[in-house]
Amino acid sequence: MELVNPTAAPEKTNKAPAGRPAALAFVTDAESEAVLQGAFLEEEPGIVLRGNITKAIQHLSGARSPRILVVDISDVALPVSEVHHLADVCEPGVSVIAIGARNEVGLYRDLLQAGVAEYIVKPLTPDLVAKALNTALHGADAAPISRKLGKLIAFAGARGGVGTSTIAVNLSWYFANRHGRRVALLDLDLHNGVCNLMLNLPPSSGLRDALENPLRVDSLFLERTMTLHGERLFVLGSQEPLEQELHLPATAVDRLIEVLREQFHYVVVDLPRLPSAVSRRVFEIADTRAIVVDQTLQAVRDAARLSRLDGLDGGEQRDVIIVNRKGEAGRRAVRVDEMAGALERRLGCIVPFQPALFATAGAQGLVPVEQNGRFADAIGALATEISGQRTQRISRWRLFR
Ligand SMILES: Nc1ncnc2c1ncn2[C@@H]1O[C@H](COP(=O)(O)OP(=O)(O)O)[C@@H](O)[C@H]1O
Ligand SMILES: [Mg+2]
Repeated sequence: MELVNPTAAPEKTNKAPAGRPAALAFVTDAESEAVLQGAFLEEEPGIVLRGNITKAIQHLSGARSPRILVVDISDVALPVSEVHHLADVCEPGVSVIAIGARNEVGLYRDLLQAGVAEYIVKPLTPDLVAKALNTALHGADAAPISRKLGKLIAFAGARGGVGTSTIAVNLSWYFANRHGRRVALLDLDLHNGVCNLMLNLPPSSGLRDALENPLRVDSLFLERTMTLHGERLFVLGSQEPLEQELHLPATAVDRLIEVLREQFHYVVVDLPRLPSAVSRRVFEIADTRAIVVDQTLQAVRDAARLSRLDGLDGGEQRDVIIVNRKGEAGRRAVRVDEMAGALERRLGCIVPFQPALFATAGAQGLVPVEQNGRFADAIGALATEISGQRTQRISRWRLFR
């Protein structure tokens, strides 16, 4: 079997990912509305609604983001901060065109810096709009807001059984259901994946295909392949026959991660116990490396080895050490402050050992974090910590260009 080179520049399509509208505009006056409606008919199917950028923010907090978004900023006091606010609620991969009344170089520059692809000063003409749509869709270097990519979080266990998959699954559920984010959960243990099981989902077919034939991966492929839990948690995990060995090059996962990051706020990856080229690759390029340990000496030692693995610049700041199963080992446990000292790191999160909670959740077909209590609080704290971390934006994408 021949592996296609996944680093080849993917073809740029201007099709909206399935489930997302192609173009959407919010404008405050009838003339602009008419011009945009005409342009959408000619260039790009789309919907024009009445309202300004604030209305757009309200709308997009609850709905899927279009690929092209036109927003009116003419009656807004602080347009640049509204653009930042908009970027927070939008899904990754949105190109924004702003329209307004002020023709000022300073404003234009600030808007571009905030991530807007193009700024048009009213009155709109079909020509101006066509040009702006063209820039937004095919611009040589798309604007930052469209480069805003979902955060890649790689979960690795210092050793087996510490609860790595458990934390990855529960955190994903939390982001999706408590923070209202779109989350992709990718289980890279292709033979013994457990993430689907933990969510009571069947294995998803197609993950192996996605890694063996990266060029096949696009939004439609994902739409068919991922299993949905609730409204916003999408899972990819498989159970390949144990007798089949898979030899995948490190870069096999690049294309999949790239497409996922364009469509999800978070891409959470559960890495298998035994390191493979693919999992090392994910660990290397992750924005956040979540290392799960329990209170044993062995876990502390192995966590230190893991965090010494190189990655992007600023590796250490990306690591979050999670102590799971706190309380399980009783007096024999390595104390949390001793662990922090040995690892020379602050510990990002401490999760209690709660076998009774896990047993009742399992019996009821629930994910443990769904039940309020100490476990859910710990996962919530972890979600807050990780969502506050900076995403490595452009630099890591250079790897793929
Ligand atoms: N905080 C916890 N309290 C109680 N049980 C837990 C906790 N974390 C994990 N477990 C249980 O430990 C077992 C191993 O967890 P798993 O996530 O599969 O480990 P790993 O991925 O590190 O091998 C599972 O049965 C899980 O339900
Ligand atoms: Mg696991």
